[in-house]
Amino acid sequence: MKHCIDTKDLNRDEFLSLIKLAEEIIEQPKNYAKVCEGRQLATLFYEPSTRTRLSFTSAMLALGGTVLGFSDEQSSSVAKGESLADTSKIVSGYADIIAMRHHKEGAALVAALNSTIPVINAGDGSHAHPTQTLTDLLAIHLELGRLDNLTIGLCGDLKYGRTVHSLIKAMAQFDKIHFVLIASKNLVLPEYMIQELEANPKLTYSFAESLEEAISSLDVLYMTRVQKERFDTEAEYERCRGHFILDKKVMSLAKENMRVLHPLPRLEEISAELDADPRMAYFRQAHNGKYIRMALICYLLGLVKLNDTEEQNLTKHYKEISSFCCRNKNCISKVEVLPHLVQGEEPHLACAYCEKGA
Ligand code: NCD
Repeated sequence: MKHCIDTKDLNRDEFLSLIKLAEEIIEQPKNYAKVCEGRQLATLFYEPSTRTRLSFTSAMLALGGTVLGFSDEQSSSVAKGESLADTSKIVSGYADIIAMRHHKEGAALVAALNSTIPVINAGDGSHAHPTQTLTDLLAIHLELGRLDNLTIGLCGDLKYGRTVHSLIKAMAQFDKIHFVLIASKNLVLPEYMIQELEANPKLTYSFAESLEEAISSLDVLYMTRVQKERFDTEAEYERCRGHFILDKKVMSLAKENMRVLHPLPRLEEISAELDADPRMAYFRQAHNGKYIRMALICYLLGLVKLNDTEEQNLTKHYKEISSFCCRNKNCISKVEVLPHLVQGEEPHLACAYCEKGA
């Protein structure tokens, strides 16, 4: 059985095959309209979502399957104190596949370790969001026709933006990728993500202080909103927002075939006056997210075979060290009693759930 918890769970062939399948579904949706007949998707959303939950629902319905679940944790048994491990075991008996979003980092891994059906991480705190990355890769492929040899600007909230983290890890599978990191000093990439960049010889990166400075070199500009819900105080959020705004003046410096992506929702960081510019790809990107999720559901349910599929062993890279204590207050291990799973080697041990160091 295979889960999709992190973009590290997928190799280059799997990314390319899923994109190819999504493009086939876009061309011939009728061929896939009954593929999931009799199958059920459980959407367990402990955190707000519009696009991700609806695109999963729309994807499963378009495959002929059905959907059950909740969109608010207060309407689930969590409100009574049920653990994620127990909820995952229970839902395994009601559905064939789970898509789960949670505000704690590592929650999807906990669900996968306790579930007997495939689990898809639909976002866990500020950690990861692999299906948004699949959406992003499909968008880049459809817009520019390639996934190698790209200069990608990452702008906005690189600290809490889980879509940025998952995108960086995925691009390690492609060749000649250069990232330009554009963020204010309070919202820079977390240390473990810098280590991820350093550890991957295929990825190079540089820093820019403004969009004006970076934009002319970019093939893709990946804009993100400042993640208000992850800040401890409103005042801190107010200090951090509004530093990078893409408007007509800045766009006049960009290449003719550059593309702007955004996982959405968009706040003030992209001026709406730009929406008609054909280089703005974010609405097309969001619409096609449904098709890559259709492809992923088919794949994880074993209904299509892709090239070079590896058997997944979730705990292969982890060991249990009972004395290890994760210091990340937003890690799932802080609210659930879990085995102390650890990845990496001394002196760089990190929590297996949230990937942060001790
Ligand atoms: C993103 C998310 O939830 O992380 N949204 C999405 O899934 N499309 C980005 C965001 O909320 O800013």
